[in-house]
Amino acid sequence: MVNNEQIRFGIIGAGNIAGVHIQTLAHIPEAAITAITDVYQPLAEQRAREHGIPVVHPSYEKLLEDPDVDAVIVAVPNKYHATIAVAALQAGKHVLLEKPMALNAAEAKKILLTHRQTNLTLMMAHQQRWEWSSLQVKEQVDKGALGHIYNAKTGWMRRKGIPGWGTWFTRMDQSGGGPLIDLGVHMIDLSLHLMGNPKPLTVFGTTFAEFGPKKRGIGTWGTPNWEGFYDVEDLSTALIKCDNGSTLSLDVSWAAHAEYMDGKPFVYLMGSEGGASLRDAKGMLFSEVDDQKHEVQLAVPENDEGSRVRMARHFIECVREGKEPLTSALSGYTNSLILEAIYESSRTGAAVTLEWDI
Ligand SMILES: NC(=O)c1ccc[n+]([C@@H]2O[C@H](COP(=O)([O-])OP(=O)(O)OC[C@H]3O[C@@H](n4cnc5c(N)ncnc54)[C@H](O)[C@@H]3O)[C@@H](O)[C@H]2O)c1
Repeated sequence: MVNNEQIRFGIIGAGNIAGVHIQTLAHIPEAAITAITDVYQPLAEQRAREHGIPVVHPSYEKLLEDPDVDAVIVAVPNKYHATIAVAALQAGKHVLLEKPMALNAAEAKKILLTHRQTNLTLMMAHQQRWEWSSLQVKEQVDKGALGHIYNAKTGWMRRKGIPGWGTWFTRMDQSGGGPLIDLGVHMIDLSLHLMGNPKPLTVFGTTFAEFGPKKRGIGTWGTPNWEGFYDVEDLSTALIKCDNGSTLSLDVSWAAHAEYMDGKPFVYLMGSEGGASLRDAKGMLFSEVDDQKHEVQLAVPENDEGSRVRMARHFIECVREGKEPLTSALSGYTNSLILEAIYESSRTGAAVTLEWDI
């Protein structure tokens, strides 16, 4: 039952991550899901039955006309992010947009510019910023405990984790890329945020595809379609240089003959006064006290509600108060510029200077 205090959500795309969003919103009394749609209608109907969602629309266009929807979660393949996010903003709906923002920087810019013409919330779904340990590390960074952060290393190196081989995930025209755009976008987003948002200026990077084209390195996310094809990278490495002189290095893979950081996401921050690390959402602080190495393990409370619930609460707060989300449209565009520059650098073999035109 919807009440006046609730933000009414419409879910666009009823696939895997939509299932996670639906479960997350169930923990938030200020949220109600009033509608859902998917191009594969039976899936939307199944989700509606399982979760008591009252309306299934035949298309996203129809859902955007629904007056009982205040905000939408866009959880469709990357190819459709820009079209649907722009249409949703133009229809007067707030948008929680799955990552990456779009297929490329030009499409991301369209979303950013449309957002700027409205008073609506556009937030990117980067739940890693909302991990308890990420919040604690950011607090220390903001207090100056790390001093000037001059170097950061981040990545997510899966050994055998290609998602949905042959589906939209592994098709360049539908995904915009492989692990770089899929996993790398989370790590770039989190790292720049923790570094204090220095402005990225130059990017040098390379991509490789040694597993996917041979149907090796297959993971468990998504159902493979062996009739499909694979034309994206499966590993990427890059260096990003920022305006304050700091550097961020990135290593991501869906598949590699390596057991690197247990296949979990990681960030290392190196500052003039101290350091910090996040490994699979576990945080550590590093410093030197009385000429001795000093380390602090950051504790997570037992009853932690989790990063996704905090992220959804933040979205609702931004909608209600007209606040700029932490993972703003501009941050999404910044990440898209960097991703595109890494792909370009890989193609040309040269470093790429980012063109800040906004
Ligand atoms: N934040 C995260 O950690 C995270 C994790 C996984 C996926 N994602 C992102 O979420 C998005 C979806 O990924 P997924 O794993 O759920 O994929 P999925 O293939 O499981 O689901 C996508 C769904 O969208 C539907 N769809 C396609 N075009 C549509 C349209 N025009 N209108 C309505 N429905 C449409 C498909 O039928 C499918 O059911 C991607 O952008 C992905 O990058 C984010």
